[in-house]
Amino acid sequence: MINADTNAARDSRAASVITPHSDAMIAVDHLSKWFGGIQAVRDVSLSIRKGTITGLIGPNGAGKTTLFNIIAGHYKPTHGTVSLDGEDVTGLDPHDLFRRGLLRTFQLAQEFASLPVRENLMMVPPDQPGENLVNAWFRPRRVAEEEAKLRKKADEVLDFLTLSHLADERAGNLSGGQKKLLELGRTMMVDAKIVFLDEVGAGVNRTLLNTIADVIQTLHRDEGYTFCVIEHDMDFIARLCDPVIVMAEGAVLAEGTSEEILANEAVIEAYLGTGLKHARPQRGATP
Ligand SMILES: Nc1ncnc2c1ncn2[C@@H]1O[C@H](COP(=O)(O)OP(=O)(O)OP(=O)(O)O)[C@@H](O)[C@H]1O
Ligand SMILES: [Mg+2]
Repeated sequence: MINADTNAARDSRAASVITPHSDAMIAVDHLSKWFGGIQAVRDVSLSIRKGTITGLIGPNGAGKTTLFNIIAGHYKPTHGTVSLDGEDVTGLDPHDLFRRGLLRTFQLAQEFASLPVRENLMMVPPDQPGENLVNAWFRPRRVAEEEAKLRKKADEVLDFLTLSHLADERAGNLSGGQKKLLELGRTMMVDAKIVFLDEVGAGVNRTLLNTIADVIQTLHRDEGYTFCVIEHDMDFIARLCDPVIVMAEGAVLAEGTSEEILANEAVIEAYLGTGLKHARPQRGATP
């Protein structure tokens, strides 16, 4: 629990960490969200700059997922605005944001369990011609061509994710880590501008976590993806993210490099009693 002094310190810090950048892919301005009597997000202003892998950390209940849900259109904010690439997108629904290149994964993987892995990927792109009855009846060749293209793309994505051998497996039979990789794969089936990953490493073994980190780095480097990553594992955050934004009790507490964040007294205080997993990145060690 953060005491009153820390709250005061946080409030003064919060004002100083507001960073409206001209190269913001996402700009959140004075965002608040109430659930009944609970204020899950408190007057948050922050930017996610183009071309970054921005980390979002904070103790359980800090408001990270709620912030994602507002940005991705799942919840309407009580106050405040969200802009995407300079355009106000506050209150747009997730489908609309998806078409504009804003993608997210969920804290709990959302695969279609009874469908094969490949089909899980093939169904991602919106407005496939086969979904339109008129097309399906009168332009079957076009539908077949589109499906062949999608299948090829899905197979490329599976190859990239090292999941090719599981293409025909029911998605429900994948391990937790493989489901997270599949979620990441869904973001590769369309042209994403920014991808929000909510605890993509939770419950994932080290080997798969390394694969996930490699995939994120490659998409960032070669495809120009911007990422915002929620994760409790500080090794993972320190390896991938710059900058790192810290939330506590619904508000932004600090922003900086992972080294600055790990040395920040207010951050350490906010995590007291909760335990910051792998709090100190091991220099030179490959996580
Ligand atoms: N749909 C909801 N209805 C009511 N309260 C909610 C809802 N979603 C979140 N909350 C509350 O809002 C606060 C922030 O929750 P949130 O899930 O955003 O935190 P978090 O930082 O993602 O935590 P964790 O690290 O545990 O995933 C918590 O007190 C939570 O109980
Ligand atoms: Mg969460």
